[in-house]
Amino acid sequence: MTEFSYKEPLLTLSNVSQQFAGEVVLRDISVQVRDVVRPGVQQGQVVGFYGRSGMGKSVLSRIISGLLVPTTGTVQVGSPARPVCPGDVGFVQQRYPLFNHRTLLDNLLVAAARKHPPAEALARAESFLERFGLAPHRRKYPAMLSGGQRQRAAIAQQLLCSEHFIILDEPFSGLDIAMIDEVKKIILEVTALDELNTVVIVSHDLSTTTAISDTLWLLAPERDAAGQCLPGATINQKHQYNLAQMGLAWQPGIEAKPEFVELIQHLKNEIRQS
Ligand SMILES: Nc1ncnc2c1ncn2[C@@H]1O[C@H](COP(=O)(O)OP(=O)(O)OP(=O)(O)O)[C@@H](O)[C@H]1O
Ligand SMILES: [Mg+2]
Repeated sequence: MTEFSYKEPLLTLSNVSQQFAGEVVLRDISVQVRDVVRPGVQQGQVVGFYGRSGMGKSVLSRIISGLLVPTTGTVQVGSPARPVCPGDVGFVQQRYPLFNHRTLLDNLLVAAARKHPPAEALARAESFLERFGLAPHRRKYPAMLSGGQRQRAAIAQQLLCSEHFIILDEPFSGLDIAMIDEVKKIILEVTALDELNTVVIVSHDLSTTTAISDTLWLLAPERDAAGQCLPGATINQKHQYNLAQMGLAWQPGIEAKPEFVELIQHLKNEIRQS
């Protein structure tokens, strides 16, 4: 099994609940991401985040990125830990919003300029264009880009202006097989860039997402002793999977392993029953 250990917490949700006009959507969520350390490897963190449609994944993503203040509870990020502020955690929404009246390069420059002086912002934007295979398209406007190019641009944009955290909402939906492989590669590259980099992937594609994650969260309703569903969804202990401990993290080609196939089956059943 791969050697690993944990250092300080990077993201901590404590008793997070969310209600909208009295409707409980999220109930009492406490989860933590810690810096995972592997000897000889610069290893960031990847969390796969699952749950049925309408369960509250996007709402929790907005809470984690500081865009929505939860009804109760707290979100702390970074090391040393501090309450999350908008901008700390990049949130790549499914429709990949970009500034339509700006070129691709300008879109990235605007993001980079929020954190860096002009010369450095330009250098960083250029380097992301190269790394994401977008350099030939730098002068194009968003409407001229393909879906996959827009997506990579949106990921680059969030990486340029957020610290070490990024949440991707449904990054694999609507992509062809080759593009899925490419986005997987980009996510792995991002997590290899810095020990503290953490990517949360919200997805219905269990196999693709689990294969590149070291932790899984499953958002589901809990039942009381009588078997009745409690209002709202949570991520209970049983639905926090440590893939590193299970020996299912950081292995290329993991999808073919029987233990992996079994886990996917198990997850499907848990999601079906929720
Ligand atoms: N601003 C809001 N006001 C009232 N209800 C809301 C608001 N935002 C979200 N909701 C409700 O919260 C619930 C969870 O929505 P959310 O978008 O987080 O689901 P999801 O898990 O992301 O689903 P999907 O997989 O379909 O994207 C839904 O019932 C939704 O109607
Ligand atoms: Mg959603």
